[in-house]
Amino acid sequence: MFGKKNKQYRVRFVGLDREIQIPADENILSAALNQGLPLPHSCRVGSCGTCKSRLVEGKVRELTDSAYVLSSEELDQRYILICQSRPKSDLVLAAGESGPVTQSARIQSQTALTHDILELRLRTAAPVSYRAGQYADLHLEQIGRSRSYSFAAPPKHQTTELVFHVRHLPGGEFTDWLFAADRSGTELQLRAPLGEFYLREGDAPILCVAGGSGMAPIKALLEQAARDGVSRPVTYLFGARTKRDLYCLEEMQELTRCWAAKFRFLPVLSEEPEDSDWTGLRGLVTDQLREQCPEAGSSDAYLCGPPGMIDAAIDVLRELGLPAERIRFDRFTDARNLAALNAD
Ligand SMILES: Cc1cc2nc3c(=O)[nH]c(=O)nc-3n(C[C@H](O)[C@H](O)[C@H](O)COP(=O)(O)OP(=O)(O)OC[C@H]3O[C@@H](n4cnc5c(N)ncnc54)[C@H](O)[C@@H]3O)c2cc1C
Ligand code: FES
Repeated sequence: MFGKKNKQYRVRFVGLDREIQIPADENILSAALNQGLPLPHSCRVGSCGTCKSRLVEGKVRELTDSAYVLSSEELDQRYILICQSRPKSDLVLAAGESGPVTQSARIQSQTALTHDILELRLRTAAPVSYRAGQYADLHLEQIGRSRSYSFAAPPKHQTTELVFHVRHLPGGEFTDWLFAADRSGTELQLRAPLGEFYLREGDAPILCVAGGSGMAPIKALLEQAARDGVSRPVTYLFGARTKRDLYCLEEMQELTRCWAAKFRFLPVLSEEPEDSDWTGLRGLVTDQLREQCPEAGSSDAYLCGPPGMIDAAIDVLRELGLPAERIRFDRFTDARNLAALNAD
């Protein structure tokens, strides 16, 4: 047993033309980064897809189900998420074949959308290409780790103006800084595009579930789909605590008006006082998912927001019979979630 735990495997990265040793109990991405290999990565928790690599030879042990992030074609082509895999034999990997671009960006404006969410506009020198639903990593010099933010608008031709929705997390390094003053003119580093969260082609109804600033990528994805004339029915459950946490209502009305098929936008409030004039849905979005969307099992699902909400929604969707490969999501992980993961 002792010998097995400490077994080292040879891992060769074609493309980078490097070979390193990785112990059987270490994940491939961390080991490679620790040994100085510049591999593309972002979330490190198996949800963004940035680290996906093709397994040319050998066997790995996967720590999470990559079917949520990788397409069936990618799985057939033996793509794996190296942040979620440990070697089980010597390996040959095609990693880092393409990657996002880093460039500087300047804050143009920040405008309140709710009491704790603001719209952040950035301007880059060179155009940024991305798909509606994807995200960017923002790096501010005085803060060590990058923070990820989803594009809140679909891309335009040669886009240099980028829009994000940022929610204030009290005690959070980046959002405390951003919400403390008008930061217009500040320069930061932007790395994009990142993630595998974008609308896949198909005929099935589209089911969206978002919480808080999880609105941003869902809004972008639906606005892009409206432009493309997508005519699949949509049900969009948006979870918020109280009425003052609701936003983008006009944009959702506009989508409902112009969508080429049935479009249901259903805000769900979890903490709205009983005696308020709110006549809409109450409770948790996940509870309303069963009530409002019994046909969820035959939809394509797109989920965005706090990790707890995403995990609960995935459980409900699986119970309703929706296969993993038809559930796409971005968990908005932050330092609390990363600390909990490291403590496990
Ligand atoms: C793919 C992706 C897309 C995202 N898109 C968006 C988006 O569009 N909009 C958005 O608002 N957010 C988004 N996020 C979340 C975002 O990246 C940040 O994590 C978030 O804004 C918090 O950053 P922060 O620096 O303010 O907080 P952090 O410094 O990360 O802290 C977050 C919270 O954890 C607490 N904390 C800090 N350290 C610890 C610790 N060691 N133990 C326990 N608690 C701790 C802090 O007090 C704070 O309350 C996304 C995340 C991911 C992964
Ligand atoms: S870095 Fe591996 S999936 Fe995000």
